[in-house]
Amino acid sequence: MKILAIETSCDETAAAVVEDGRRVLSSVVSSQIDLHVRFGGVVPEVASRAHVELLTPVVAEALLEGGVDGKEIDAVAATAGPGLIGSLLVGLSAAKAYALAWQVPFVGVNHMEAHLHAAFLEEPDLALPVVVLLVSGGHTLLIAMEAAGSGSDGFDLSGGGGFPFRYRLLGQTIDDAAGEAFDKVARFLGLGYPGGPAIDALAAMGGGDPRAIAFPRAMREEGYDFSFSGLKTSVINHVRKHPDVEVADVAASFQEAVVDVLVTKARRAARALGARGICIGGGVAANSLLRLRVIEACVEDGIAAFVPSRAMCTDNAAMIGVTAWYRLRADGPSPLDLPALPNLALPFT
Ligand code: KG4
Ligand code: ZN
Repeated sequence: MKILAIETSCDETAAAVVEDGRRVLSSVVSSQIDLHVRFGGVVPEVASRAHVELLTPVVAEALLEGGVDGKEIDAVAATAGPGLIGSLLVGLSAAKAYALAWQVPFVGVNHMEAHLHAAFLEEPDLALPVVVLLVSGGHTLLIAMEAAGSGSDGFDLSGGGGFPFRYRLLGQTIDDAAGEAFDKVARFLGLGYPGGPAIDALAAMGGGDPRAIAFPRAMREEGYDFSFSGLKTSVINHVRKHPDVEVADVAASFQEAVVDVLVTKARRAARALGARGICIGGGVAANSLLRLRVIEACVEDGIAAFVPSRAMCTDNAAMIGVTAWYRLRADGPSPLDLPALPNLALPFT
């Protein structure tokens, strides 16, 4: 089954063709960074208008690269939420139109569930349960992903019917998301937008010392929830007090504090649950230090580390196509009057 998938929840216009929920035949991502950079962040109206212009050529390229004609597409999927409402509406409307024109099912996909699936798309040996750290611009979630059938630690990829996974929410941020903290600190440091990659690059290439400043690690030893807004305030206060501080040191020390808290909690959750591995997903999972620390922690603890390629961590449509395949088999097609759902939550048990 070949699914054409569309992702337009924020500032990337993306389309992909995915076969049988596993094989990515094409994945095209057109970033709008150039359009938003002078505003220091995503401007929703600008994003929606750009999606309208970019979507048709991006879909055409995805079909071409995937070597498929529209007539060979078996279903069309698009992100239904969460995200910016105007941006979501562009992708959803287009997907419904393609589905109607080709007379194939339409599937609305949860963007965060797609980030979760992207985390193990490249891992055929996934053994459950795993602890998943989903860290993006809007979310910081610690999730236990288990096989839906009780008592089984495997899952059925080929059998029909039923959704093979169950998600349990272990913890989440009580204020800023991890990506939001990266973006706000980068903006304060004058590093521009998007902030995560800028801090990552400066910390690594700019020779920043991660031990230069001991920023606070909020709630590091307590439970599974996160808090990043105090850290952001600490960075601002420190720089105001020490205007001559090396920006690379601030970036590296800030990144160290975020990654320390994320990995400490994921690791503690994995031990408590007897998880077989730790998975990371979402834009912040592209962070070099987080990727390294997760691998180190898993090697030490003798469990698997599922660290997807960077392209699979940041927004893309391949992850939408994978999720759509699972959802279509388990739940059937979505109705054509499915609305955009800007605050859509993950379906936790
Ligand atoms: O998942 P994503 O592409 O979009 C959302 O669904 O939000 O995540 C975007 C977030 C932004 O906050 C961006 O700064 C952050 O991911 N990000 C990073 C890195 N690359 C992207 N954060 C830290 N280090 C990176 N290398
Ligand atoms: Zn995302």
